[in-house]
Amino acid sequence: MSVASAHSHAVVLILDYGSQYTQLITRRVRELSMFSVLFPGDASLDRIKGVSPRVVILSGGPNSVHVEGSPRVPDGFFEYCAEKNVPVLGVCYGMQMITHLLGGEVKPAVHGGEYGRMPMDIAPSSQLFDFISSSTINVWMSHGDEAVKLPAGFTAVAKSHQGAIVAIENPERRIYGFQFHPEVMHTEHGMEMIKHFLIGIAAVPADWNMGQVLEEQMEKLKAQVGPDDHVICALSGGVDSTVAATLVHKVLGDRLHCVFVDNGLLRFNEQQRVMDTFKNHLHLPVLCVDHSKPMLDRLRGVSDPEAKRKAIGAEFIEVFKNYATELEKTLGRKPKYLVQGTLYPDVIESCPPPGSGQKHSHTIKSHHNVGGLPKDLQFELVEPFRELFKDEVRAIGRLLGVPEQFIKRHPFPGPGLAVRVIGDVTEDGKLDTLREVDEIFVNTIREYGLYDEIWQAFAVFLPIKSVGVQGDQRSHAHVVALRAVTSGDGMTADWYSFTPAFLRDVSNRICNKVRSVNRVVYDITSKPPGTIEWE
Ligand code: XMP
Repeated sequence: MSVASAHSHAVVLILDYGSQYTQLITRRVRELSMFSVLFPGDASLDRIKGVSPRVVILSGGPNSVHVEGSPRVPDGFFEYCAEKNVPVLGVCYGMQMITHLLGGEVKPAVHGGEYGRMPMDIAPSSQLFDFISSSTINVWMSHGDEAVKLPAGFTAVAKSHQGAIVAIENPERRIYGFQFHPEVMHTEHGMEMIKHFLIGIAAVPADWNMGQVLEEQMEKLKAQVGPDDHVICALSGGVDSTVAATLVHKVLGDRLHCVFVDNGLLRFNEQQRVMDTFKNHLHLPVLCVDHSKPMLDRLRGVSDPEAKRKAIGAEFIEVFKNYATELEKTLGRKPKYLVQGTLYPDVIESCPPPGSGQKHSHTIKSHHNVGGLPKDLQFELVEPFRELFKDEVRAIGRLLGVPEQFIKRHPFPGPGLAVRVIGDVTEDGKLDTLREVDEIFVNTIREYGLYDEIWQAFAVFLPIKSVGVQGDQRSHAHVVALRAVTSGDGMTADWYSFTPAFLRDVSNRICNKVRSVNRVVYDITSKPPGTIEWE
């Protein structure tokens, strides 16, 4: 987290104690036009002081305050907040930690805890709920421990129908707590509770807007890159790298050099489509390198998913190195910087689940680093979106005039169709079949007006043939699977519930147009336990 930008906006600091909802709180705050930063729950006091938070939210988590070694705020935290007049809100485990550390008592719930939807009664007067007129509302719970005795100066301002204390406040010390999760959509008035706390109680200014962020990033780039320096960028055709390159191009003009690699694993007409957008809509200088033949040659006979990914990654690095060397020859100097569309979720250090044996780890998955370049290339990085969520990058893209159709594109993996063909990708016209099926599927989704409701949709080539009947004749042809999911960030996902009419229509279209396919199946697996892609 660059402290520079932390200082130009009021910071809402969220300390992560391991709840699956912590990133959601961080995003909810951004939706309220405030700058939120997520640190691991055991961050040092110096690190916390370093961002001068205007308010601190202590997240939920799976621990119990009674367990030896359970995470907690650093020594001196409450004293620091008191001295700087920083309001503190504890959510779930965060509220239990406040209760425990300030002299109250937390115990395992006598009734075994509260999970899921639960009505709660609100006290007639409270700071936290003074904007709500009803006295009973439904909230989302997930806790086994609960506060049974409050620290001095605290009042219970809501109780669940099982009798648990589920909201506390100490207006004088500006410390508050919710036992439930205001950030999940099942909590009635949840978003308003967060808003009321941040604006009504903590008086945080809503000073985070994408227009300003864009300007700041442009200024930062001017300061970072010298007047004669050159910058390179590998474009994937996805939103993040495209918007990053568009931003850099606006500032540096023809000192930005982009490359798009056709690795032979792209979707139907993908090369023409993205090159057309780069050239005609974004006016980006992009060199298209057709590397499909060497890539497919290298993949011949490779069927292990990990080996495929490694081969693709290594081949990509080769192309990129050659590109940089050629560029150096033409420019007479080595480009100094590399633009990457890294996002905030990639750099967040989350609190890992207890017992996982991990220390705070970056959430990025190693297998998504396929385009990751080796250190010996020695570029300095330009990462204008390191502090942004994907929706924010989309907003910046809109400000920069990136066409809407491009901004809303479903994600597409770096290793392309190779992770959608089970086994050797080069055999049997598999890639061409898959391209055709995928195109029909996605076009039908668009035709039905469903594209924007779905997070990602694609077809998968299965390594089996089955018997069918086509035109009164027995056929022995391929099986394809269709996959469509809804998701927030790709970490968890659910399958999309198409109508039977849609499924019937799309299956007919595929079997009629793609003669090498006689069977279409739809994947009804969520993530977890599945992943989104098949490999
Ligand atoms: P999984 O299948 O792991 O995928 O549930 C989650 C999301 O990540 C995309 N994905 C990738 N993106 N390089 C990428 O840039 C990759 O190697 C990669 N593998 C999966 C996938 O398409 C989905 O959106």
